[in-house]
Amino acid sequence: MAEYKLEVTTGDMKYSGTNDHIYVTLFGTEGQSERTELDNFGTDFSTGTTGTYTLSTNLSLEKLLLIKVEKDPFCYLPEDEWYLSKIVVTTPEGEAILFPCYRWISRGELVELRGGRALKGFEEDHPVMIEHREKELILKKSFYQWKILAEGLPHINHFNNVLELPAEIRFSHSKSSEIDYEKMKTGIELELKGLLGSAEKWESIEDMNKIFWWKKTTMTEYVSEHWKEDDFYGFQFLNGLNPKVIKRCSELPPNFPVTEEMVKPFLEEGSSLQEEVKKGNIFLSDHKKMEGIPPRAYNGKPLHVTAGLCLLYLNPENKLMPIAIQLHQQPSEQNPIFLPSDSETDWLLAKMFIKNVVSMDHQAVQHLMKTHFLAEVYTVAALRKFSVIHPLYKLLIPHFKSTLYINTGGRKNLFGPDGAFSISSLGYDGLTELMRRALSETTYSSLCLPEDITARGLESIPNFYYRDDGLKLWDIINSFVKAVVEYYYPSDSEVRKDNELQEWISEIFTHGFLGNKASGSPESFHTVEEVIKFITMVIFTVTAQHAAVNNGQFDYYSWMPNGSLLLRKPPPTTKGQSSMETILETLPNVGETVNFGALGWILSETYSDMVPMGSYPDERFQEPAPKQMIKEFQAELSNLSEAIATRNLQLEIPYSYLDPAHIENSIAI
Ligand code: FE2
Repeated sequence: MAEYKLEVTTGDMKYSGTNDHIYVTLFGTEGQSERTELDNFGTDFSTGTTGTYTLSTNLSLEKLLLIKVEKDPFCYLPEDEWYLSKIVVTTPEGEAILFPCYRWISRGELVELRGGRALKGFEEDHPVMIEHREKELILKKSFYQWKILAEGLPHINHFNNVLELPAEIRFSHSKSSEIDYEKMKTGIELELKGLLGSAEKWESIEDMNKIFWWKKTTMTEYVSEHWKEDDFYGFQFLNGLNPKVIKRCSELPPNFPVTEEMVKPFLEEGSSLQEEVKKGNIFLSDHKKMEGIPPRAYNGKPLHVTAGLCLLYLNPENKLMPIAIQLHQQPSEQNPIFLPSDSETDWLLAKMFIKNVVSMDHQAVQHLMKTHFLAEVYTVAALRKFSVIHPLYKLLIPHFKSTLYINTGGRKNLFGPDGAFSISSLGYDGLTELMRRALSETTYSSLCLPEDITARGLESIPNFYYRDDGLKLWDIINSFVKAVVEYYYPSDSEVRKDNELQEWISEIFTHGFLGNKASGSPESFHTVEEVIKFITMVIFTVTAQHAAVNNGQFDYYSWMPNGSLLLRKPPPTTKGQSSMETILETLPNVGETVNFGALGWILSETYSDMVPMGSYPDERFQEPAPKQMIKEFQAELSNLSEAIATRNLQLEIPYSYLDPAHIENSIAI
């Protein structure tokens, strides 16, 4: 007789346990065990517990290859899903082998677990496992399919709603109920005050303080007090929700005829625009991408979207100040260049219209498309193309954990034709067109922070914490990825002959970058170095970059005048005609404001099953080397977290979005 000791761990999330019967079968190089029920005296498989079971075979199965786990199909009670974390098997020879699972198992489902060392396809040496791996990949390809959401956008997974998603990529039950709870709580509070659904315009800016009176952060208070100030306006181009739009300006575009005379009063005494351009102190936010996109209709008339230009100056106090704004691309008499010296409300309106397009670019392009949608492409390609035993599957899957769930749900509630973003000035069709234009211009290089910063000439601009913290994070991720990838790929030839890896990147090129060679995104990998760079970019995108554009939404958007997705009136065409009344008529009405605010709240909350960046609660690697690399990665992240916290003590406006302690390990909201 040969005895196998099985330590079976049930997840510790709410409702992870099950009362159903569980059966396992072990497969080894020398045969298989009987299908055996795991049944100890008392309750088995309670949430957060590990049960030990013994399974006997006549002879040793020799090298253990696979465990089949079945959840009893013959039960008349309601479905009682089980979250199996892992099984550790100790063989009669005394070897302990880890079989990671980390997924929900539904009734009647049969799950096959691979254990032991991570293996690339060509390293499989047993005929049974070669065949098994082929079958696994065929099954996965049929299980996860591509679908086109709209022409010109990254492709998406084919499931129509979150209930259809396979158990292995579903959210925890606790998180979905918390999100509903948040919605409910917000709704009730606002309804009580009679704000939700109100089509009234605001009577005064101060009245907006009525929203979320018990949900304020230091930052929301700061924003409501300082939103009109030019230096805070400029600051947000660097450290607000959209740090991706400004560039150093080496030459003024010919369609933006700002004269020396216009801006002289705002420059250092004795200096000129030309001189400041030469010194590298002039920056530009140019929104020509918006030109010609039809806005949505509002009360039967089209809204207005301004493809504007905003010129910014880094002054001797190291503050970035807006100094000239033109709201449309073509200069004309009806398209004056607004200046800080104009009337308070003219200048405020000009800034608001620029902020409106910056905010739409933020939500549709920087947030949804470049993090959520591209992450979905990386995820679907990984689920389709990698075996669960592949080292890169083990490395990447924790970073893709909730992506399909949140995106599939979000397409209905947020981005869909009736979703929250559809009440923006561009509306659903306009935002789709904006994303389409943005994707056609998106380069691989722009997704890699160090290259993006250099390309935009922002290497030395002071007080740019998004860049400072982001570049440090990029390096930390890069070192970790380099260690793991080099461990599993000792040479470039290993990269070239790894079909699963090659098919993964090929699918990303086809379904994410739509086969656009000009994007510079790789179609295949030739070297270890190329793999390291791409995976660094993927992990950076789904952790740091998503946090930078997601986590401050309540901070910056809950005080709506600071950045509204919707403006209801046309932009000014002449100077001296506006008043505070114009501003109140231009801003969203009470009900619309409340909707945007509630959205920002829900999207910026931290939920109880948050997994911080770099913590891998799921044990997937058997080998000591990657485990050690994870420890080093965590130590680096924790050092950075401390350094950021210390730095923030000195800042008037702390920048915490890229503090690793606040970043999630995957896009989860
Ligand atoms: Fe998000």
